[in-house]
Amino acid sequence: MADKILSIFGTRPEAIKMAPLLRELAARPEIESLVCSTGQHQQMLDQALLAFGILPDLRLSAMTPSQTLNGLCSRLLSSIDETLARIQPDRVLVHGDTSTAMAAAIAAFQRRIPVAHVEAGLRTGDLQRPWPEEMNRRVVDVVGDLLFAPTPAARRNLLAENLQGRIVVTGNTGIDALMHADARIGSDPALRAALDASLPELDDQLQLILVTGHRRESFGKGFRDICAAIAGIARRRAVQIVYPVHLNPSVRHPVRQLLSGFSNIHLIEPLGYLEFVRLMQRASLVLTDSGGVQEEAPAIGKRVLIMREVTERPEAVETGMARVVGTHPRHVVEAVEEELNSVPSVPHRGAISP
Ligand code: UD1
Ligand code: UDP
Repeated sequence: MADKILSIFGTRPEAIKMAPLLRELAARPEIESLVCSTGQHQQMLDQALLAFGILPDLRLSAMTPSQTLNGLCSRLLSSIDETLARIQPDRVLVHGDTSTAMAAAIAAFQRRIPVAHVEAGLRTGDLQRPWPEEMNRRVVDVVGDLLFAPTPAARRNLLAENLQGRIVVTGNTGIDALMHADARIGSDPALRAALDASLPELDDQLQLILVTGHRRESFGKGFRDICAAIAGIARRRAVQIVYPVHLNPSVRHPVRQLLSGFSNIHLIEPLGYLEFVRLMQRASLVLTDSGGVQEEAPAIGKRVLIMREVTERPEAVETGMARVVGTHPRHVVEAVEEELNSVPSVPHRGAISP
């Protein structure tokens, strides 16, 4: 009988990074691959599922507006537990460091179902940054029996913790997804034109800064600082800034309050995955606190400033393509100035037909 593997995920980045793996699982007759979406995200998850044509076999509906971590985790734990009881998988597969990944791993462990962790071993060493994700990923790695580390550095982190799971270095599934999307957009002028048409009207003679930001540990002062930095850049330079704003109200409120009304800042809704990749292709510089985006941009040759104090993804920093700049407005603005002065103003990769 085929092994029944249940992949459980609930947010935008998990769907994107699990997509290449789900394709592989579906192609293997010895595996019965089932997908459970917890609905930790709603619209943003649906956008990602759509981009990859993923149709979950099971859909839970964990999200509530402005959810608290404990409220979310308790809904996740009970709904995932019911699902495990009903489906009785041979193995559960989770990705990364979200509340969904942590709750699914605990629920499976407590039902004695083996857990595999994709993107195991990322660490900052600081439980407060990112918060709560550093705790989530450690918990998953403690209970996981198969730890898929994306890089040798992640493997070393796991070895240092003397964990029980078997470690396999796999590479980064998010980069697999990205390479596929980048090549697809690069080779299809009609697709490229359609994606461009869905983006704000951009001037290819002006440098484009792409911004994303959503980390919980930055809420409050950190986010106001990030917005002050973006406003400072918009005032000082003839650039265009595009910011697809995350749907979390704790992000949207300060962003709208502090960044509306600038003619060169485009605040837009979260983009579909291909639209976002296209925007990265056109960017001169990426400014982000996102885990996924800080890996993706360097992979397609774009420099990144990471608006956090510390990163669990040292590889891009080691190549010189990424810099950790924190959230202090002056530091961010200075770093942006340096970067923009050192890259050619036009055109950039992807802006013109290959
Ligand atoms: C979550 C993850 C974070 C990940 C991020 C990716 C946790 C604790 N956080 O953070 O690790 O980096 O997703 O984006 O697991 N919302 C919507 N629609 C959506 C998505 C979110 O309205 O499609 C709003 C809701 O009001 C929701 C709030 O955003 O309550 C927060 O969502 P949540 O998943 O708790 O946190 P994120 O900040 O998205
Ligand atoms: N992304 C997207 N649309 C957007 C912004 C980002 O599809 O408007 C993709 C991006 O390419 C990356 C992922 O979403 O693969 C990152 O998600 P997010 O920043 O929300 O989460 P994190 O990676 O920080 O957990």
